[in-house]
Amino acid sequence: MQIVTRIDEVKNLVRQLRRQGKTIGLVPTMGYLHEGHLTLMRWAKAEQDVVVATIFVNPLQFGPNEDFAVYPRDLDRDSKLAAAAGVDVLFAPPVEEMYPQGYENMLAFVDVRKITERLCGASRPGHFRGVATVVTKLFNIVEPDVAYFGQKDAQQVVVIRTMVRDLNMNVRIVTVPIVREPDGLAMSSRNVYLAPAERQAALVLSRALKLAKEKLDAGERSAAALIAAMRELIDREPLATIDYISVSDAATLEELDTVRAPALVALAVKIGRTRLIDNLLWEEKQHVSHAF
Ligand code: PAJ
Repeated sequence: MQIVTRIDEVKNLVRQLRRQGKTIGLVPTMGYLHEGHLTLMRWAKAEQDVVVATIFVNPLQFGPNEDFAVYPRDLDRDSKLAAAAGVDVLFAPPVEEMYPQGYENMLAFVDVRKITERLCGASRPGHFRGVATVVTKLFNIVEPDVAYFGQKDAQQVVVIRTMVRDLNMNVRIVTVPIVREPDGLAMSSRNVYLAPAERQAALVLSRALKLAKEKLDAGERSAAALIAAMRELIDREPLATIDYISVSDAATLEELDTVRAPALVALAVKIGRTRLIDNLLWEEKQHVSHAF
C-alpha cells in the first residue's frame, strides 16, 4: 500500500493505474478506522481492481463548538488496518493541502438544499455543505468509478446521491450496511469518547430502533406511535438526551405520518457530551434485516 499526502501524487498514481485499464474504488473516511470503515474497504476491494481510501478530518464539516480539534487521529494504526483490508493507495493530506487558502477563506461550495436542513442538518448547520464540498473535491482528485459510503450516515448517503444525480457527476455510489458491535452499538470513531457507564447507556439507540422494527413488523404504521415508543425507551436512560427521532421517506427524507416503505427511522441522541446517530432502513419485503 502506498501512502500519499499530496494531491499531485495521488492524481499521478491513479492516472497510471487507469491507463492500465484498472477500475478505481474510492472510500472516503476521517480515519481512526474501525470495522465499519474496513468493511467499506473490503467491499470496494471485492468489486474494484484498485482501492483508494482517504483519511482527512475535514474542518469544513465541523461546527465551531464541535469536536474538530479533539477528533481521534492515529495514522500509523490506520495505515496498518487499511493495508490489511486491501487498500492500494491511502491518501492522507494535511489540511493545508486540501485548503491551501485556508478553509475559512473558501469561496466555492457544493450546496444541496432541503434534505440538508432536516435531521442532522437541523442541529449541525453547514455540516452537509462541508461534506458535499470535500466529497466533490475528493471525486475531482481521484476520479473514481465507484465510491463507497456507509448506511450508518444515512442522510449523508442521500445528500451525496442527490449531488451526484443533480450535478451529473461521473461516479457510481454504493451504500454498505451498518456494522455493529456484538451488543448492537453502531460502530463509530466517536465511540472512544464514551466512559464505561456511557458506553452501556449508548445501547439505547439500537434498542430503540429494534423496538421500532418489532412494531413495524407487527403492523404498526403510525410514525407518531413509533416515535413515542422510542422516546419513552430512551427517556428512561438518565445519561441520554434526544436530539431527534425521525420517521421519513428514505429517498427524500420528508417526515411521514403513515409509514410506507422504504422508510428511514433515524435518531440522534447525546450520551453525556457525545452525540451519536443510528438508523434503520425499513423496506416492505424485508426477508433479512441487516440491522439486527
Ligand atoms: P467517517 O465518519 O470517518 O466515515 C467514513 C465512512 O465510513 C462513511 O461512509 C460512513 O458512513 C462509514 N461508516 C462509519 N461507521 C460505519 C458503520 N458502523 N457501518 C458502516 N459504515 C460506517 O463520514 C465521514 O467520515 C465523512 O463525512 C466523509 C464522508 C469522509 C467526508 O469527510
